[in-house]
Amino acid sequence: MSNAMSFVENAEWLEFVSLLNVSSIDMFYVDPPFNTGKKQSGNAGSYQDSWATTDAWVEWFTERIAATIPKIKETGSLLIHVDWRTSHRVRMVLDQLLGEDRFVNHLVWRYGLGGSSPRRFARKHDDILFYCIDPKQYYFEPPMVPATSNRLKGKLKKATDVLDIPTLNNMADERVGYPTQKPLALLELLIGACCPANGLVYDPCFGSGTTLVAAKKTGRRYCGCDQNPQAVKVAQSRLAEID
Ligand SMILES: C[S@@+](CC[C@H](N)C(=O)[O-])C[C@H]1O[C@@H](n2cnc3c(N)ncnc32)[C@H](O)[C@@H]1O
Repeated sequence: MSNAMSFVENAEWLEFVSLLNVSSIDMFYVDPPFNTGKKQSGNAGSYQDSWATTDAWVEWFTERIAATIPKIKETGSLLIHVDWRTSHRVRMVLDQLLGEDRFVNHLVWRYGLGGSSPRRFARKHDDILFYCIDPKQYYFEPPMVPATSNRLKGKLKKATDVLDIPTLNNMADERVGYPTQKPLALLELLIGACCPANGLVYDPCFGSGTTLVAAKKTGRRYCGCDQNPQAVKVAQSRLAEID
């Protein structure tokens, strides 16, 4: 498959990754099903998010991430977007496949929406595990965000590992009706930090195409797949709108 162009496919992660050239990806990002045990539904599509056990999800994930690692450049990185259900297991898988010294950050995407519970602290964040292929060579450009302290008000400061980015509410303009759609601002920040200009971003579970749209808007190339034809339709129409 050519490295020069951007492309999206209706395909399964494992099948699609086998088509990619070795050491061709600058930034790998995946927001896989979280194993919520539910069918995720929206006006523009739905997908099953249920495995029999956490072990079964980990087995599914491990096979695919192991096949993906050789396709990432020495200067490249991996960002795995999960939550409390699997982040502890994903970290162990990546430590084993890549080595503990390849771990860079455990990013916390803190958002406001979501329920509360009388039995525990409200769960208001996702986990994004950031690993590199080579600790001496990986690309990183620290993202700048507005400072919040009184002393630095109006200035920018380097982002920390806690990312305060609002999740999409029901009225958000960018909402396309695909379930579990992530905000463009989150993906633009991650891509700006981890992928050089004109680099190649790969997302094998792109859903509504947020990663691809963010890559295109920020001057990166992109490739990816989703096994759900509804997702591919939504992503293609979002990408066409940028043209
Ligand atoms: C959490 S959603 C991604 C949402 C996306 N980040 C967005 O902003 O819209 C996960 C996606 O993974 C897809 N998916 C699940 N298993 C897959 C597999 N084995 N190969 C390719 N896509 C898969 C689902 O169809 C779903 O669209």
